[in-house]
Amino acid sequence: MNKKALSLVAATLFSGVAVAADNTVDFCKNNTANDYVTYSNAISVAEGKITDVLTSRYSYWTSKVSGKGTINIYSGGERCFFGTAKGATWPDWTQFSGEVHLYPLKKFVSNAGFYGLIWAHGGKTFNPEEAEKSASEGKMNSCFAKSKMTMHDGSTLATESGNRGLRIGHLDMEAGSRLMGYYKKSNTPKTYYMVGADNTDATIAGRIAPVEDNVMEEIGFIKEGTGTYRITGNTNIICGGLRVLAGKVLANNDAAKAKSGKMSGATGFIPDQTKVGVYVMQAGTIGGTGSIGSITDVYGSIEPGDNGIGTLIFQDFAKSTKTGLHVRPTTKVNIEIGSETEYDKVIVDGPVEYYNIGQDFVPSTRMPQIVLTLAEGASLKEGDSFTILTATGRQSYNNVEWHWDIKYPDAYTWEVKEESTGTGIKVVATVTSLKYGNQNDGNQDDVDTDTDEREEWDLNAEKTNTTALRYFQRYLKKYVGVAVRGWAMDISNDNDWQPSKIKKEFNAVVAENEMKFDAVEPSQNQFNFGDGDKLVAFAQRNSCRVRGHCLVWHNQVAGWVTDNGQKNSFNRSRAELLSILKNHIMKVVGHWKGKVAEWDVCNEILDDNQSIIRSNPNAYALRPSVWATGIGEDFIDSAFVWAHQADPDAVLILNDYDVEFLGQAKTEALHNLAKRLKASGIPINGVGLQCHLDAGHVNVSKLKANMERYADIGMVCNITELDLGVDNTSAEQLKIQADDYYAITRAAMTVDNCTTMMIWGLKDNDSWRSSNPLIYDAGLAAKPAYWGVHAALSKTHAEITGIDDVEAESRVSSSSAMYDLKGRKIINPSKGMYIRDGKVVVK
Ligand code: G3I
Repeated sequence: MNKKALSLVAATLFSGVAVAADNTVDFCKNNTANDYVTYSNAISVAEGKITDVLTSRYSYWTSKVSGKGTINIYSGGERCFFGTAKGATWPDWTQFSGEVHLYPLKKFVSNAGFYGLIWAHGGKTFNPEEAEKSASEGKMNSCFAKSKMTMHDGSTLATESGNRGLRIGHLDMEAGSRLMGYYKKSNTPKTYYMVGADNTDATIAGRIAPVEDNVMEEIGFIKEGTGTYRITGNTNIICGGLRVLAGKVLANNDAAKAKSGKMSGATGFIPDQTKVGVYVMQAGTIGGTGSIGSITDVYGSIEPGDNGIGTLIFQDFAKSTKTGLHVRPTTKVNIEIGSETEYDKVIVDGPVEYYNIGQDFVPSTRMPQIVLTLAEGASLKEGDSFTILTATGRQSYNNVEWHWDIKYPDAYTWEVKEESTGTGIKVVATVTSLKYGNQNDGNQDDVDTDTDEREEWDLNAEKTNTTALRYFQRYLKKYVGVAVRGWAMDISNDNDWQPSKIKKEFNAVVAENEMKFDAVEPSQNQFNFGDGDKLVAFAQRNSCRVRGHCLVWHNQVAGWVTDNGQKNSFNRSRAELLSILKNHIMKVVGHWKGKVAEWDVCNEILDDNQSIIRSNPNAYALRPSVWATGIGEDFIDSAFVWAHQADPDAVLILNDYDVEFLGQAKTEALHNLAKRLKASGIPINGVGLQCHLDAGHVNVSKLKANMERYADIGMVCNITELDLGVDNTSAEQLKIQADDYYAITRAAMTVDNCTTMMIWGLKDNDSWRSSNPLIYDAGLAAKPAYWGVHAALSKTHAEITGIDDVEAESRVSSSSAMYDLKGRKIINPSKGMYIRDGKVVVK
């Protein structure tokens, strides 16, 4: 049904007559009680065809949908769940790439809270700071990722609670439609709509605002793709922030009306008006003819107007709080000039502040640019002058000196000056001569793109070298180990197939679960060290080092402390929680004193979203947990101090994930927290990068550089939980995985302040991930990934010893004479390297 036909059908629907056409799926009924309807039949809409779906006010719509046609969804009220109860799963729309139209359907209930869909989330937590990564890892509902959606007047999209992401390939919103977050009023949910993947242009004329305009409930809008999105609504409250990852977002609201009516404008404000509300990344542009109501941080471009000359205002008309503009080394302010009265202007109701730090957190000396261009047919006079930017002041992060880098057109001679106005600053461009003054020196070079240089290694050649991994580790003076899954093997039996493999190949072990809080202290002050002891005994019998994992975490905490890791379920006081934590750490570390060499003292205590680093480069945000909220930040300090008191020789580590590569906000956050702890005199020895990564998405140069910088603050940087998922087990994927294992192992073996590399599990079928991320298959056969690790160890070994053809002593005839490396015959050799039968052997 197209839009033209809608009014006819709508009349039928509203009169209560059921539509019984072949292309109609009607599971809408007069649901006044909450007896939910579930509709799950598959729906296929061929290209050029139209299917109407009438959803019920209380329903779970779980159909698998495919095709390239058009689906009109008529929503019967506010509890039309798009997925299963509480958002547990979402339907499979991976084979649908057509059009979707969302309409309200009032035939049964004329006064529902809203008419729309509530999207499921599948339990996935979305991180807007890493939006593309979250999307690629499936941490967002992507049902409409390939669809072109139009939300018609009166329709609404909402979500279930939590930190949720929803992706729509293309989104148009008619006036009267609404994007909401969590469909109920609450203070914690955060919802982010990511739009534009199909690279087309769209108009957002509807309203983006949380339920009941409750700004404590975040709703964010993320623009991807190369298209242009025009926001024309004048009362939006994008309180979870607008992010322009690519393409353009034009604030095209009526700014004069926003000003006179004290309206929030195109973006609205965010609740903490000292924080950034709009991020424009390097590939993105913010522009338009309207107003933006929150602090805007621009790594990309600013372009007043909409394909022509215009004025872009950064001002919060609704709350009258000062906004401000952050400019970066890569910022470009594109100003088009037509005549003395017709030219682009940027008006900032707040200061312009320069941060000498780029999108990837790398400091730079580049200056923000103002790029002047002439409109077609522009004809200027000598003395014409243009106030192209005004602001209430100028600032810079760390008081760095800064100026605008002006890029001139190739006509006229110009003078561009930033002047003080008494109430602020203005940037004025003046034509000083009609003669071309040769001022155009071109744009600055683009910032370097990332490269990751890789060494070559030969899988087949490596397979001929059957020396165990452990052999090399001895000479590298590094630990390479595995996480041991206690319930999946008999670790007390060294001759069992798995323990015998571990003792042969590795010189370090860590308990995958057996030393965690819930395992060792299942009831208050009742400790159960049995399973951990078994692993420690194995390690002692086989000269392996033991890593302890982990003392303080939000997960796998015993139920008597919290029922979900976050809540202080028993309303304990700060003093009580501190005493629980102290007792736990003192008893656990004390029990294994001298036996567990290294502890993950705090695990995963950083929040996923570290956007805060962008405007506060030394900051970090903590994850809400029973410890962080019940005690306060000093739970971290105390935990390290107690662990140190319990075993002064143990190496104490701060462990986390998504902190591997330079250029990511959370990577900076870990570094900031480590620096802070060190500066506070806390006995921390280093950090652990977990490295739960996906093969093919590893930048080892950025990993290495990140690891190395911990040496500068006197810390080790270990790889603590390495595993590398693959999409499938094709030879090609397994080789990509092996290459990444090689490169990461090389980094671990060559970075001086890295002492340990732990692989998170022994064999694929025992991994916590289903993506075959380990180095052995289910039958313990070495995968190419094993040979990647092997090659990296043997190469590093060769570099250190100068010997690249080492054979294990056991494989060489013992009757032959032995010589030292200088060729002298040796009788009764002690440990070391010797020549026998023309080969280097090690005893
Ligand atoms: O408690 C039951 C036990 O009774 C039963 O015998 C066993 C076997 O089915 O299951 C046990 O519960 C499991 C629990 O580990 C403890 O053994 C859970 O089902 C399982 O989901 C849980 O998973 C662990 C996960 O942490 C929990 O968050 C994984 O094995 C473990 O690999 C994983 O490890 C974490 C690190 O500690 C921290 N970094 C991330 C890493 C991966 O999530």
